[in-house]
Amino acid sequence: MKVQNVELTISAVSPAQYPNEGFPEIALSGRSNVGKSSLINTLINRKGLARTSSQPGKTQTLNFYNIESELYFVDVPGYGYAKVSKKDREKWGQMIERYFSDRPVLRGVISLVDGRHEPTELDCQMIDFLHYYDLPILVCATKMDKIPRGKWNRTESQIRKKLALNPQDEIVLFSSVTKAGKEEVWNWVEKMSGI
Ligand code: GTP
Ligand code: MG
Repeated sequence: MKVQNVELTISAVSPAQYPNEGFPEIALSGRSNVGKSSLINTLINRKGLARTSSQPGKTQTLNFYNIESELYFVDVPGYGYAKVSKKDREKWGQMIERYFSDRPVLRGVISLVDGRHEPTELDCQMIDFLHYYDLPILVCATKMDKIPRGKWNRTESQIRKKLALNPQDEIVLFSSVTKAGKEEVWNWVEKMSGI
C-alpha cells in the first residue's frame, strides 16, 4: 500500500473514545521499548509520526493512526516496564482487556518481541491472551539488524517454540533500521484487513 495520508486520530483510553467509522484495525503490542512506534513509522515511511523514544513506558494510551481512511494502526502501550506503579499496571490491564476482548473491527495483532533475546514471560502471556481471544497473530521479531543473517533461522524457531505459537500464527523478522521484513508485514496487514 502506498501511504501518503496518515494522522493520529485519537489517543484513547475508554471505548467511547475509539473511532467509529468502522475501518478495520490492526493493533501492535509488545513490551516497552521493543520498537512498536518505530515499526509503525517504518510502515508509513515517516520518521517521527508515531512517537519513539529511548524512554520506556512513554506511550500510555491506545493511539489510533488513520491510514488513508482505510484502516487504523493501533499503537498499544508497552508492558513490562519495571518502574510503572502497580496501580498504573492495573489500569493498563483493564484498558487492553477492554480493547482486545470486545472490538469487532480488530482484524489482527502484530505482537512484537525483541529478536536479540529469548521472549519474556510477559511476551508468552500476551500470546496466550491473544490465543484466548482467538485473534490472528503476526509475531514480529524486531531489531534484527543486530543479529547476523546466519542466525536468523535459529532465532525464528526459538521464538516460535518459546511463545508456543500455533501453526497459523505468522512470524516476520524485522528491522526498522534496514527495513527488513517491511513488505511481509504489509502483506499480512493487507490480507487481514481486507484492504
Ligand atoms: P514504548 O512506546 O515505550 O512502549 O516503546 P516502543 O515499543 O514504541 O519502542 P520505540 O519504537 O520507541 O523504540 C525504542 C527504541 O528502540 C528507540 O531507541 C528506537 O530507535 C530503537 N529501535 C526500534 N526499532 C529498532 C530496530 O529495528 N533496530 C534497532 N537497532 N533499534 C530499534
Ligand atoms: Mg511507542
